[in-house]
Amino acid sequence: MKVAIASDHGGVTIRKEIISLLEEMNLEYVDLGCDCTTSVDYPDYAIPVAEMVAKGEVDRGILICGTGIGMSITANKVKGIRCALVHDTFSAKATREHNNSNILAMGERVIGPGLARDIAEIWLTTSFEGGRHANRVNKIKKYEEIYFE
Ligand code: RB5
Repeated sequence: MKVAIASDHGGVTIRKEIISLLEEMNLEYVDLGCDCTTSVDYPDYAIPVAEMVAKGEVDRGILICGTGIGMSITANKVKGIRCALVHDTFSAKATREHNNSNILAMGERVIGPGLARDIAEIWLTTSFEGGRHANRVNKIKKYEEIYFE
């Protein structure tokens, strides 16, 4: 599995924590920044990661900002993206099993790096259940096919 990861200035600490997890898990990754200490705009980081996932250049994406909200709103504008904003381990497992989420968003002003690491590990290692959940995800895909270029 190959993962693209990015954060804005509000998510640098958790991004570095997750990169160390990816290395421990021997997963290939692309780090799209930022390494900034000044303020940047989260769409400039969410869109490149979401496009890499949508184009199949990577299998999954991880996005971190202050709340995770701006990153998740932006990523979900990209066709084919199912970005889940997650701040607990139950949802990390459920969103993979039920939603087949392909991007994980988290907020560094909401949770600490330890919980973020646990969430990311569960999210990266949990499989989609398919079945009735596939029917539901397919309804999202069908809507995208009809209404988005
Ligand atoms: C940046 O101040 C903050 O707005 C951003 O990190 C994020 O929380 C937006 O949703």
